[in-house]
Amino acid sequence: MSERVVSGMRPTGALHLGHYHGALKNWARLQALHPCLFFVADWHALTTHYESPGEIGHNVWEMVTDWLAGGIDPKQATLFLQSRVPEHAELHVLLSMGTPLGWLERVPTYKDQQEKLADRDLATYGFLGYPLLQAADILIYRAAWVPVGEDQVPHIELTREIARRFNHLYGPPPDPKEQAAARKRGITLENAPILTEPQALLTEASRLPGVDGQKMSKSYGNAIAMRETPESVTKKIRTMPTDPARVRRTDPGDPERCPVWALHEVYSPENTQAWVQQGCRSAGIGCIECKQPVIDAVIGETAVFIERARTYQEDPRLLRDIVDAGCDRARLIARETMREVRDAMGLGYV
Ligand code: TRP
Ligand code: SF4
Repeated sequence: MSERVVSGMRPTGALHLGHYHGALKNWARLQALHPCLFFVADWHALTTHYESPGEIGHNVWEMVTDWLAGGIDPKQATLFLQSRVPEHAELHVLLSMGTPLGWLERVPTYKDQQEKLADRDLATYGFLGYPLLQAADILIYRAAWVPVGEDQVPHIELTREIARRFNHLYGPPPDPKEQAAARKRGITLENAPILTEPQALLTEASRLPGVDGQKMSKSYGNAIAMRETPESVTKKIRTMPTDPARVRRTDPGDPERCPVWALHEVYSPENTQAWVQQGCRSAGIGCIECKQPVIDAVIGETAVFIERARTYQEDPRLLRDIVDAGCDRARLIARETMREVRDAMGLGYV
């Protein structure tokens, strides 16, 4: 069996170009190389939004639409919803029994997020358990690889520790004779693994800035959506700040100090980039002129997303069918793992 890839996203609604270049494009590449399972982590959304669960449903379907618009192919990858595979919850509860509280309290995102989202009460059991639920999401598919950003690496590390502990506690022990022989050579044989220790597949952080030059983020209000209209793309990029040194058209500038250049680095071919470098530094081109190729390229990209999404907007049933089929496929694997997990723990008595 080729090594399995699993990743999830919390349902944040329509995705932006930072999501596309930072994560989705990588998923689309992986789906041709490995069996991939991509899911909407809707229970994880509840850990922070338990007071307003009403928005989650809309966000789920908008996000799945953008996955498909961004080139995730349901014929290659399995797309599903976490909450539709309740085995994730079963594994979570079984793992929770033996997980030391300190392991969860030590996860850096725990205190960070509590401080960042100080307006919400996150002193909850569910929020502390966030990374353990994530571990269950991954371990239940015995994934080898988890494509994630840097911020998620501590969660993958925790997942590895959880798997190791589970195997140590419940994995079938080695044959006593072999163990005795190994001991004489100073080696201790481990239990046979039931759960697989996954590895993070680091996604290079997207260098795409938002329209104010900061990191693109919905909460900063500087994002360009994957399905932004051409008019809105034009307006957002036209009003982007540029190198502050270029007060007048005749002032030379430095692309390194201009967020528009970061867009050229993603969207423009070499000859256009050379034109920008030369024209900006010599004041040979104006900023409006310089922005036009980026505007055209972004509109070209979003047009593809808008077109692909149209099919699913016109017939939402298609979307449901894709996710239904994905849930069924994911569940078959999850059920098989749970059977083995229960047996290993001695819970196969029913
Ligand atoms: N915590 C991840 C994030 O915020 C989302 C997530 C939940 C996830 N379960 C996962 C990612 C399992 C990878 C694998 O981005
Ligand atoms: Fe930025 Fe282009 Fe203007 Fe230079 S010419 S400051 S790179 S927008």
